[in-house]
Amino acid sequence: MARRVFFTRKWPGSAVDILQNNGFEVNVWPDFDRPPESEILQQVSDGIYALVTTVEDPIGTEIARAGSGILSIVAQAGVGYDNIDVQGLSSHGIWTSNTPGVLDNATADLAFAMMCSLARHIPDADRYVRDGSWSCWHPSLFLGKELSGATVGVVGLGRIGMAFARRCTGFGMKILYSARSCKPEAAEVGADFCSLDELLTRSEIVSLHVPLTNETRALINDERLSLMRNDAILINTSRGSVVDQHALRRALVEGTIQGAALDVTDPEPLSPDDPLLSAPNLLITPHIASAGKETRERMAMMAAENILAVSRGERPPNALGGTG
Ligand code: DGY
Repeated sequence: MARRVFFTRKWPGSAVDILQNNGFEVNVWPDFDRPPESEILQQVSDGIYALVTTVEDPIGTEIARAGSGILSIVAQAGVGYDNIDVQGLSSHGIWTSNTPGVLDNATADLAFAMMCSLARHIPDADRYVRDGSWSCWHPSLFLGKELSGATVGVVGLGRIGMAFARRCTGFGMKILYSARSCKPEAAEVGADFCSLDELLTRSEIVSLHVPLTNETRALINDERLSLMRNDAILINTSRGSVVDQHALRRALVEGTIQGAALDVTDPEPLSPDDPLLSAPNLLITPHIASAGKETRERMAMMAAENILAVSRGERPPNALGGTG
């Protein structure tokens, strides 16, 4: 009987074909919205060999238990994996993998685009034209922050943080970064190491590039927001819970920072009547940072490659935890 793989989403590209060409039977959740947890549990209990997940699929103890001795790998199509109980899966002999590296540029592109948009008030200016407010050319209309020479603070100088910093060098920006320790690769982008508090105090733009861990949950809270400059812009393309959204709303309403751009929120999806959405100077997108066409194709393909490796009895190339 063919080994079965369940994809919790339909992905662009040919990952499904590759698996089918290697003898797998592949089922793909047909709806646009994610499958309920009960569907994933059912698939696992029905004996699937591999599960391809996204950031939105909670993979916890129940699935680990149900998959014990049956499920071989949970292949996350994404770099972040805070939705997965990796240890729990490992303890039941199930591999976990992710897709590091492939989405660095796409994510950095979006963070950079958000920075430019907010610095030059592009969303507000667009609305201004559409709502009929445009009456004349005026020297003070939508005066914005110039990026050349501005100080940008990169919180977390991993692969994505570096990709973002590289883009900033092209705009002649001064780069600060904070991380657990000094990074030799910072020299490539001329970034100066400093504490998070110093970074927040000095930066005109702060871009978050940290994974969600116990240490980074609500990293940007009331106290940290109060360190930021009045003209500062906060950008978050990492995970929503890294920012305390109530605190952010207060900062935006009170004008203690200039603006914020979020591609990630807590929860996701954000309800249209969430109070955050009534805050001024907020640009918000629905977790699309990695949504470059080639990037998304490659993410699914990497998940398939991890499954194929396990089926050959090998360690998956992007193993996070596993059976060994
Ligand atoms: C990731 O890969 O972690 C992105 O947030 C999309 O899931």
